[in-house]
Parts: sequence; C-alpha cells; structure tokens
Amino acid sequence: MHDDPQSAREERTISRWTRSQAAAIRRSEETLAPVVYPPAEDIDPDVHVWDTWLLRNRDGTIAEIDGYRVIFSLTAPADLLPGKRHDVATIRYFYSRDGREWTCGGPVFEESAEQRSAGSRTESGDSVPFGSRQWAGSALYDRRGGVADDDEDGQLYLYYTASGTRDETDLTYTQRLAVGSGGTIETDDDGLEISGPFDHEILLEPDGTEYEREEQSRGMIYTFRDPWFFEDPQTGETCLLFEANTPVPDPELESDRYDADPEHLDFNGSVGIAVSPSGDPTEWELESPILEGVGTNQELERPHLVVQNGRYYLFLSSHEHTFAEGLEGYDALYGFVADSLRGEYVPLNESGLVLTNPESAPFQTYSWLAYPHREEILVSSFFNYYDLRGLSLDDVAHLPDDEQQRRFGGTLAPTVRLGVDGTETRVLGVLDHGHLPLPRENLPTLFSSYRGGDGGGEY
Ligand code: FRU
Repeated sequence: MHDDPQSAREERTISRWTRSQAAAIRRSEETLAPVVYPPAEDIDPDVHVWDTWLLRNRDGTIAEIDGYRVIFSLTAPADLLPGKRHDVATIRYFYSRDGREWTCGGPVFEESAEQRSAGSRTESGDSVPFGSRQWAGSALYDRRGGVADDDEDGQLYLYYTASGTRDETDLTYTQRLAVGSGGTIETDDDGLEISGPFDHEILLEPDGTEYEREEQSRGMIYTFRDPWFFEDPQTGETCLLFEANTPVPDPELESDRYDADPEHLDFNGSVGIAVSPSGDPTEWELESPILEGVGTNQELERPHLVVQNGRYYLFLSSHEHTFAEGLEGYDALYGFVADSLRGEYVPLNESGLVLTNPESAPFQTYSWLAYPHREEILVSSFFNYYDLRGLSLDDVAHLPDDEQQRRFGGTLAPTVRLGVDGTETRVLGVLDHGHLPLPRENLPTLFSSYRGGDGGGEY
C-alpha cells in the first residue's frame, strides 16, 4: 500500500456512480427480464440455492475438467426459512457435462456451517474454513506451473467471505476475504469429486482508510465481501475485486466532494481491488477502490468483470432498499464500462441499470453473474421471491412459514442473454433455468428470441 493513503487516493482514478447518474434509473425494454416461473425441477430440492459462481481458469475462461464444468453456490437446508439462510450459508459444488443438468457433489469444505451448528466439529486449525459461515466468492483452477493439458496438475483456489468468526456463539457480521486452497478434483464416468484437505487463509481485512471497518459503519448493512479473482488480459496483472464501503468520517466536510447531502453519505458502497504483484493467488495488497457509490448506494454486491472487445465491463448487483434517500432503483444488475481495469468507468445505459425484474415481480431474481459467450454476455442469477403480489421483502418475513417457503425459488434462475454495444446493453432472450453453456456451445433456438422475432417463439 502507498505510504500516505490519502495521496494514493488522490492520485488514482476512483470512478463514481453519482446520484445524478442513478437518478436516471428506469425500467426499459432493453433492461427488462421476462417473468420467471418455477422450473419443473430444482437444481437440488434438499437445499436452498442462491449466489452461484463458475470454476474458471486464470484467464477467466470457464474451466473444464475431463469434460465437466463446475459451479459453486451458497446453500442452506431447504426446510430452513429462506430469510435465515445467510446465517448458515454453506458452499456446495455442482457439476455438469452439458451445462443443463447439474449434480450436487456436497459441501466443498470438510466442515460446513451446517455440521458445525449440529455440533459435529472434529477438526481445528486452518484446515477448516474461517467464519461461522461462508458467503460468496469465486473459484480459480490454476494450471500455471502445471503440465499443460494435464488436468491433475491444476491447483484449486476457492475464495470466499469469512462471515463472523469460527467459534462465535452469537452470530456477528464481521467479514474478511479468505481462500481455501490445495483440494483435489477427481473425475470418472460417474461424476466429479472435490476433496480436501484445504488450507484456509485470511487474505484481506479492511484497513479503515480505503475500506471501512465494521465499527466505522453508519450504514444499514456493512460490507467487506465477495472476493472475485481476475487476471487483466491487457497487462497480465493478477487482481481480486470485492464489495466494500468507503469510510466517510466527516459527512459535513465531504458532502461537496460527493455532490450529496451529508445524510446521503451513510450510503457508501464501493468496489474494492487488491493486486498480487507476484501473481501468487494468495498474496494480496489492497489498493484504492475502482468504483464508489458514495451518496448513492450502500451495497455494490458481487462485483466482477467481463472483457469484451477490449472494453472492461464491471458488473454488480444491488437492491432497491440500499439506494440512498431520494433515489429509486431496483433489485437489479448494474454495470459500468471502461477502456482499462482502473477506469474511468461510465455507467452502462447512462444510469448503470443493465437487467432488472418486471414491476409485477420485482424480487424474482437476484445476485447476477455475467460471463462472455462469443459476441454476447450470458447472465446467471438465482430464483428469489416470487408471487408476492405487491408485498415487500419486509412483509414476507411476517407471512406464515409455509407461505415464506412457497414464495421462495431457492434455485437457479433462467440465464439471460445480453447484447453489448459500447456503453449500451440490451436483453436478447433467455435460456432455461440454470443453463450455463460454454462459449463453443450453440444456444438453443427455441429460447433465442425474446418477445417474438424470427428466432422461434416467445419465452
Ligand atoms: C448477495 C449477497 C452476497 C453475500 C451473500 C450472503 O446475494 O448479499 O453479497 O456474499 O449474499 O448470503
């Protein structure tokens, strides 16, 4: 880190998502996803499934291990009330040969949050994950240093958010960025198995200057989470993006700088970045954030990048209720584009809105993940609360338990196809629930046209 953090901050470009940009957020034909209905089958009926990410190679392409692709998801037992799932989140992996049918391989770490809460803890030390539960992350299959074409030589790095601390009895919301590395992947005709032991390490904690610590937070929901591995194709630089908040110690003094009223500055979301000068996926140094939404929004969730036609598309998820007062946004995928990793980023479609739910089903999907597919971008997410008929998320918590369960999807949502043109995007169509094709695979024509057109029928 720079000796003088304040001057480091001034030297760098920190792009901003301003209030005036966000004030232009409106649903449009280009940004609207179709209504989602429950799938014929959940990816795994025994568990709620939400935030999901793909196992990727160092260059960001989707990893294929002997013909299998792998996803990781936050999960919790299906009989648990959906609103409680974050408290016991456990990372499970699923594998597939065709990107449509996924088989659950089980919890990825030896000791899951569920086992721990059931009191079956047998291990100690750093072979068990940090945190009382594990939140979102990313997964790297690193063949660097291995023998080319020999899958056995790849090394797994499973980045996650350590939420709370291992042995806490009352849940806390401390968040640190962690990794589990060293597991093995084995395959045969029947499937794929990931096994430990993993070596767990805390990689990064907030420094209090660039990145707010929990005790500095005045905001509604504190964040320092969702590590996402990224190698810059232009420079080869190895990076980790994450969701954070920017400290604003004196809102009265800083309101001009952010062009916002002092009380808006309690909403101070940012997209953080750390670099690994040696390329070692476990050695990170914090830098200034690449994007701030100070005065605009509190949670810039699961930030990640897609490089398309030499441009850097930065995507993140955010909620209706995390916009600062005076702004109206949606539960949606937001995006920004720049010519290089550190920006300057401009909001896509002027306001930043890329993909949202229909007004009649505003919470039907959340936690989007974009990846390139030839000229398009595909966007996966999870099926969240539906059939709410005007109820807010707060209202849901007051419904009888079985009604809360009935209205929660807890599985993968239909994948959405996006077309990208410079600073503009538009929804092109949808694929099936949980269909995650590789770029070399064709998209099904049945679902290729959105709202009619030549491609064959409506969704
Ligand atoms: C987004 C999110 C992530 C976090 C996870 C916790 O859906 O808030 O930022 O890691 O959910 O369940």
